[in-house]
Amino acid sequence: MANWKMHKTVEEGRAFGRHLIRRLSEAGDQPPTLVVCPTLPGLWPLAREFAGTPVGVGAQNLDLGREGALTGAVSGYLLREAGAQFVIIGHSERRQVFHETDDVIGQKVAQAYQSRLRPILCVGESAQEYRQGSTLSVVERQLQALAPYVDDKMMQTLIVAYEPVWAIGTGEVPEPGQANHVAAAIREVLDRMAPGSGENVPVLYGGSVNAKNIRPFMGEKDIDGALVGGASLQVEEFLAMARNSC
Ligand code: PGA
Repeated sequence: MANWKMHKTVEEGRAFGRHLIRRLSEAGDQPPTLVVCPTLPGLWPLAREFAGTPVGVGAQNLDLGREGALTGAVSGYLLREAGAQFVIIGHSERRQVFHETDDVIGQKVAQAYQSRLRPILCVGESAQEYRQGSTLSVVERQLQALAPYVDDKMMQTLIVAYEPVWAIGTGEVPEPGQANHVAAAIREVLDRMAPGSGENVPVLYGGSVNAKNIRPFMGEKDIDGALVGGASLQVEEFLAMARNSC
């Protein structure tokens, strides 16, 4: 899954979309599930480019509510109508820069379901928490924040991205086995919260993934895919990652 963050104009996004579709049809084989999360202005135009193709489109955030007097806000309902099928919730940049709390993130996940969007919940520890050895308790707290708002049935179709904050955009990555250990712990927490979800929920790894380092992560038992920032901005690199994750 590609998270473009605040990159690419509308036209750059559309050009990427057309290039990706052309390359996928040339290759002819079945790629893994691919989802691109562009900027907000790029969402509708990119959804049009990908219409009728296997590539999905997601938003990077939603605002609570449906419609109303909320200047600057964009609800899940509006994102869905603009072509989004997925939405990233609780990315560490939203938590840190925009001060989103665990509780707000829990509400946003519920709102995603109400808007018929599939949420990709990001969890992960900071560098300090990593050094303190509190990774698993941080991740558990971030998952448990959903409990007041999200029912068992919703939990079964959640997607979780484990993204250690210290690995995002830094070029540093954990050992794949260590990321897998956290992914397995995530599944245990999910299963306690909603029996069966530990198996049903795709768990992605994110943080400085690129075409060169992706393969061992994808070889791990409890990691199903990747959430990719910087390395998803070029079509060929994105495709190489998709190929290397099969
Ligand atoms: P990165 O970002 O791949 O550029 O490290 C990942 C993310 O923030 O989702």
